[in-house]
Amino acid sequence: MKQDYRFPKDFIWGSATASYQIEGAWQEDGRGESTWDRFCRRPGKVIGGDTGNIACDHYHLYKEDVALMKDLGLKNYRFSIAWPRIIPDGEGQLNQKGLDFYNRLVDELLNAGIEPLITLFHWDLPQALQDKYKGWKDRRLAQVFADYCDVVSRSLGDRVKSWATINEIMCFTTLAHKLDMHAPGGIESEKTTNQTVHNALLGHGLATQVLRKNVKDSFVGLVDNNEAPWPVMDTEPHLSAARKAWKEKNSQRLFPMLTGEYDDEAYVRHYGEMPDYTDEDLKIISTAVDYVGINFYNCPPVQAAENAVGYETVDLPAAYPKTDMEWPITPDALYWNLKYLKDFFPELPVIITENGMASDDRMSEDGTVKDYDRIEYLRAHLRACHRAIEEGANLKGYYLWSLMDNFEWAFGYSKRFGMIRVEYDTQKRTVKESGKYYSRIISENRVL
Ligand code: NOJ
Repeated sequence: MKQDYRFPKDFIWGSATASYQIEGAWQEDGRGESTWDRFCRRPGKVIGGDTGNIACDHYHLYKEDVALMKDLGLKNYRFSIAWPRIIPDGEGQLNQKGLDFYNRLVDELLNAGIEPLITLFHWDLPQALQDKYKGWKDRRLAQVFADYCDVVSRSLGDRVKSWATINEIMCFTTLAHKLDMHAPGGIESEKTTNQTVHNALLGHGLATQVLRKNVKDSFVGLVDNNEAPWPVMDTEPHLSAARKAWKEKNSQRLFPMLTGEYDDEAYVRHYGEMPDYTDEDLKIISTAVDYVGINFYNCPPVQAAENAVGYETVDLPAAYPKTDMEWPITPDALYWNLKYLKDFFPELPVIITENGMASDDRMSEDGTVKDYDRIEYLRAHLRACHRAIEEGANLKGYYLWSLMDNFEWAFGYSKRFGMIRVEYDTQKRTVKESGKYYSRIISENRVL
């Protein structure tokens, strides 16, 4: 019989963005400076010297963008709040005009029948906090973050139930301090880098407690781009090797957040020197969440090996199929990731808070964007989700990254992830073929 890839009733179908990547209006209505504004001005850090100053000008075009979401039939929309718009110095004085923008956006979404999922921190830290505390390197930032979350959730919590505290801790800690590739930048020791990760986890825990207190029927979680090693083939000894790799490689964030414990041995092996922490920290970090958000893009497989750990990453050949980011296309990694989440955390609901691909797509003469590579990527990954659900995974929703082309961090505007194309000189939006495809998937609630 033909598999029809139907998803469960009430499955969340959404799309995602982040403030710095789409909003622009960097100096408008009292917005403060963020670490990304500062980082973009460092020569050579962002391709083309691009910045988020204007981006997709979503700050001004949000009504048009919500109308497009409605036309596409999106049921859910994940966006982030720019902390420097709400509290320009990061702590203290509130900027009501900044908060008003998000009030208007939330109302516009709800009027269009679209449910918001708000990310409270997607990397645009107020520069003032970087200057005063050295940012997340100081554990006091965890409380400063929770105070900001208190302000936002008291204002929007009457209408918004779904929240993500922090997006991809790895990217503003390890990518920033090991590789100097992301804001705030600046190479640090292994220990300091890991301390920054720990402090951010602490911020997540404190923020979760605040959200639960302020929001009735809240649905709160952390978004992690976890490591997703998977067996090179579905047989022993690779199956056991991959399961072990998955557990050990997630010892830095996922396991402490969900179990309240650090596995020191695995941590040191994969991430280096342990951060300083207390038992009380671990209790806070593992405050119960309602779901975990997983951002999945790619991961190479592993195979059993005769070395100290018993596994090794497979070296993919140069010609392996890749996206425009040079990331290998590995939908099976997503399937296994969902299986392991079910295996280790049987009761935990999971949301794919991001998945998608950069593609070198072009505007055709007939005015369409024929991004069939993205369609194929989506089809393969959604089939992987479907298969995992059929086998018992707790997957509740999927957010496509991204709603529209946007500022891809160190890659500037050179990479396009959107299901809507953006012409940056005119701000014209065009729904790509993948957008039409995804829209149809949502209306039929099945992979096509
Ligand atoms: C994950 C990040 O959350 C998002 O901001 C970024 O654009 C995508 N990955 C693609 O790299």
